[in-house]
Amino acid sequence: MRVLVTGASGFLGSHICEALLQEGLQVVGASRGKGVLSEIEGVDWRFLDITDADSVENFDFSGFDAIVHNAGITFSRKPRRYLEVNYLGTKLLIDKLIRVGYQGRFLFISSLSVHGPGRAREDDIRLIPITPYGVSKLLGEQEVRASSLDWVVLRPPVIFGERDRALVGLYKLMAKGVVLSWKPEKQLTVAYAKNVAAAVAFLLKRDVSREVYLIGDVTLSWEEFAQKVMETLGVNRRVVLPLRNWMVDFVAPWVGFLRLILRLPVDRHKLEEVRANQWVVESRKLIEEGFNPPFELEEALSRTLSWCRSKRLL
Ligand SMILES: NC(=O)c1ccc[n+]([C@@H]2O[C@H](COP(=O)([O-])OP(=O)(O)OC[C@H]3O[C@@H](n4cnc5c(N)ncnc54)[C@H](OP(=O)(O)O)[C@@H]3O)[C@@H](O)[C@H]2O)c1
Repeated sequence: MRVLVTGASGFLGSHICEALLQEGLQVVGASRGKGVLSEIEGVDWRFLDITDADSVENFDFSGFDAIVHNAGITFSRKPRRYLEVNYLGTKLLIDKLIRVGYQGRFLFISSLSVHGPGRAREDDIRLIPITPYGVSKLLGEQEVRASSLDWVVLRPPVIFGERDRALVGLYKLMAKGVVLSWKPEKQLTVAYAKNVAAAVAFLLKRDVSREVYLIGDVTLSWEEFAQKVMETLGVNRRVVLPLRNWMVDFVAPWVGFLRLILRLPVDRHKLEEVRANQWVVESRKLIEEGFNPPFELEEALSRTLSWCRSKRLL
């Protein structure tokens, strides 16, 4: 089986490539730069810019049994950019695939953000994203679902793992013993990148078509997540920093400083996500259909934090 992975050079894309290679599949990775793919053997890399009509037009999509469309942006200071990449880029790609009569599978990496805050299930009919990112992922997903392609949609929540730098600022605080403590009802589901990648491999092997799946390993409060990270790092000191939504509103005008000082990829839209009480995956559809995530939270965190240390990020 020959599979094209878009966004292969990034965090999740690189784990997807590794998971597919492990399954013995032939993997072609596409993105604008080689990124972390230079560390991974066995992926045949090709240039592709999904926002550039010429690049999409000139790309040879023949000979693929499946395409994992994972390319996308999760943070931009220009909200318009989310639409350009996550929505219009996806549309350009689909239009081209339809034109050339692509007959293979098409697995789209969407996001829990399309649901908006709350407790998400695949059969939710009200999808109310609250950020430009969430809107762009929903619009991209709608293009996929309205197409004649043989599609499957996977909606992950916050993903952590090796090669992710977005959460490093939080790990740094936790390494110093700082626990951001919200009300316990503020919960989030997290997923380990290698488990999400394993789910992609699982879905490609199974004969599922025109189905949406949520995925998530574990649901925790912010404090519980910090506790797990600190246990993994062997940090005993605890400085609890109680946080409330009014404080988020207070710092919102200075969010640029947070970005610079804490080196967190935050803007006022990310703060909106933080203000919401729950980003929870309630469904177990994937598990009920036989998916067994290969990594438990403890091992996943241990691998992630070891990677951060090996890169001197912690
Ligand atoms: N990280 C999370 O917590 C999370 C959660 C839910 C869903 N997701 C989804 O997972 C996917 C991957 O996210 P990630 O966290 O791995 O992000 P990432 O590390 O920033 O990787 C994004 C990938 O997309 C590629 N890309 C960006 N713009 C492109 C363009 N114009 N043309 C072609 N490729 C482009 C990037 O490569 P180049 O820049 O070299 O082109 C890179 O390979 C996204 O679709 C995201 O919405 C992520």
